[in-house]
Amino acid sequence: MNTKPFIYGMSVEGDNFTDREIETKRLKLNFENGINSILISPRRMGKTSLVKKVISMIDEPKIKVVYMDIYKCRTEFDFYEKFASSIIQATATKIDSMVENAKKFITSITPKIAFSPDINAEFTLSLGIDKHRNSADEILELPEKIAKERDIHIVVCIDEFQQIGEIPNSLSVQRAIRSVWQHQQNVSYCLFGSKQHLMSNLFYSRKMPFYQFGDMFFLKRIPTDKWVPFIIGRFQHAGKEIDEVLATKICETVENYSSYVQQLAWNVLAVSDKKVTENSFNDGLSATFEQVTPLFVEQTANLTTYQLNLLRAICVGIHSDFSKKETTSLFDLGTRSNVPKIIKALTEREIIERNENGIFIADPLFKLWFKREMM
Ligand SMILES: Nc1ncnc2c1ncn2[C@@H]1O[C@H](COP(=O)(O)OP(=O)(O)OP(=O)(O)O)[C@@H](O)[C@H]1O
Ligand SMILES: [Mg+2]
Repeated sequence: MNTKPFIYGMSVEGDNFTDREIETKRLKLNFENGINSILISPRRMGKTSLVKKVISMIDEPKIKVVYMDIYKCRTEFDFYEKFASSIIQATATKIDSMVENAKKFITSITPKIAFSPDINAEFTLSLGIDKHRNSADEILELPEKIAKERDIHIVVCIDEFQQIGEIPNSLSVQRAIRSVWQHQQNVSYCLFGSKQHLMSNLFYSRKMPFYQFGDMFFLKRIPTDKWVPFIIGRFQHAGKEIDEVLATKICETVENYSSYVQQLAWNVLAVSDKKVTENSFNDGLSATFEQVTPLFVEQTANLTTYQLNLLRAICVGIHSDFSKKETTSLFDLGTRSNVPKIIKALTEREIIERNENGIFIADPLFKLWFKREMM
């Protein structure tokens, strides 16, 4: 059991997890009914935690859920190796049957079981999938074959799915994947990831293979009225006391960004005596800035003056029409035609993002820091 009052930087569960009732219900229903799901949000908002929670709630023996993280996959065949080994590992009933199963379903492989350096798993399975010996289709059909044979439904959850957009030859790989997956009757997929602009590229454009692949939802911020009782409760758990006003202030300061709420709450807790005061809040906030400053310094170090100026414009409340005369006379953004280039570069670096109301700074703590240090 985890007794830490606040956790940030890794997925959370149990007492460290709050809210997400609606999303949990919807995702669970999708899993149980074989509906594909796509989950997108900014970094550290809680995608992995949510999916893992739903996985832990599935109690129907006929549904098997496979979870994999493809962050480290750099090529098409890295992905197939991860895909197949995760599926074999999660659907085998015994360790002994893993190698047997693997050989039964995939031709010419050299399965190996090794004790895992990963503390979350006792062992890892490697299959030795190879582009000269194995075909993409054979691997992509694997879950359907296993599901049919065992009369189960398989839900394949793929974390950091944006990585598919980054591998060489990505578009034709995406086409190959989609054309196999869309015919599967006994398998559904839950694809999720951060790097919003990459995920959006994969799923929002009509031209892309994964367009309308499933039920797509955007993970929103946890609202203040859910955070406040959680924060108060976690302080109590640690033998300390925080009032509603300061708990609310923790949320609002970081605009309810999940990971930052927990980070700031932890820093406030760490510096406070039994009862949290305005002073301890301020000290906690300073500690948080100290932790994030090196990263923000690095993120801004290579920005051009024009790029920095666009960020300054956003910080004073300008979110669209950057080439307007009033804007360009206040903030030097270069020539008119330069503006889209600045926006593109900052979007690719994930510093800004576009929503229905215009262009905003993606990270609330970065925005605060930028206003303090760079204006
Ligand atoms: N439901 C939740 N309740 C409380 N805190 C949460 C919740 N979801 C996320 N968090 C906070 O956000 C942090 C990041 O969560 P998680 O790793 O699930 O997010 P993610 O969106 O998968 O992140 P990444 O973009 O890095 O993959 C957690 O460590 C925790 O501090
Ligand atoms: Mg994650």
